[in-house]
Amino acid sequence: MKRFEGKIAIVTGAASGIGAAIARRLAGEGAAVAVSDVHADPAAALVAELRKGNHRAIAVETDVSREDAVRDLVDRTVAELGPLDIMVNNAGIGEEPTPIDERTAEAWHRVIRVNLDGVFYGVKHAARVMKARGGGGVIVNMASILGVVGFNGAPAYTAAKHGILGLTKAVALELAPAGIRVVAVDPAFIRTPLISGSLAEAVLPLHPIGRLGEPDEVAGLVAYLASAEAAFVTGASYLIDGGYTAQ
Ligand SMILES: NC(=O)c1ccc[n+]([C@@H]2O[C@H](COP(=O)([O-])OP(=O)(O)OC[C@H]3O[C@@H](n4cnc5c(N)ncnc54)[C@H](O)[C@@H]3O)[C@@H](O)[C@H]2O)c1
Repeated sequence: MKRFEGKIAIVTGAASGIGAAIARRLAGEGAAVAVSDVHADPAAALVAELRKGNHRAIAVETDVSREDAVRDLVDRTVAELGPLDIMVNNAGIGEEPTPIDERTAEAWHRVIRVNLDGVFYGVKHAARVMKARGGGGVIVNMASILGVVGFNGAPAYTAAKHGILGLTKAVALELAPAGIRVVAVDPAFIRTPLISGSLAEAVLPLHPIGRLGEPDEVAGLVAYLASAEAAFVTGASYLIDGGYTAQ
């Protein structure tokens, strides 16, 4: 028996990196998956790949920084795939290391809109449909080690990821009586297109384990948290960081 047989999942930012690995993992373990991304073509390509493997999947073009788009994503998923069981709020962007005294409000807000507001919209609309069906479900929010420690040159990203952990705790308390679990994941640097070659080289020594993480390793943790094995887990965040924050 596959862990997610009969389950319906949404993954945002699913066309690349960690999100694509999560979509593949959930589909591979039986879930029907809405592959959502602001970039339609790679999302459609992943859906074609999943369907080739006999998995149920739809591609939904979504900019998570727009609430109407996230509302439509959730409603379309329920209409086309069925009642939502798993919401993975994964979409996120990086930022330029501009000195704080030169940083524009627009550059600040762009990161907050995608990395924090986008997670709020995902939590809100997933909770809406999960409550409407009588409760139950899991919401997994992609934070970062930068939700736990700071990073020189990434104030908006760090603030957004710290914000995700606060949002996760508060909403977990609110939704626990409805049987809806809300959790967060805090990866260190993972080998994805988000991490450029020079950044990867610079941060490598910060990982005691001696390498960056792989997207599929994060997907494995997300799958555990989304599964029935994690039924007692809510309001918590889980580091997956090769020892980065242990030192
Ligand atoms: N790679 C890392 O080292 C690392 C570490 C910790 C946390 N994270 C987090 O993991 C998540 C995924 O990162 P990744 O490394 O796989 O990056 P990635 O760039 O490979 O993938 C991110 C995906 O999100 C999509 N996206 C960007 N803006 C969007 C928007 N407004 N609406 C919808 N989709 C949008 C992109 O098109 C892309 O497909 C992010 O939240 C990131 O902050 C990454």
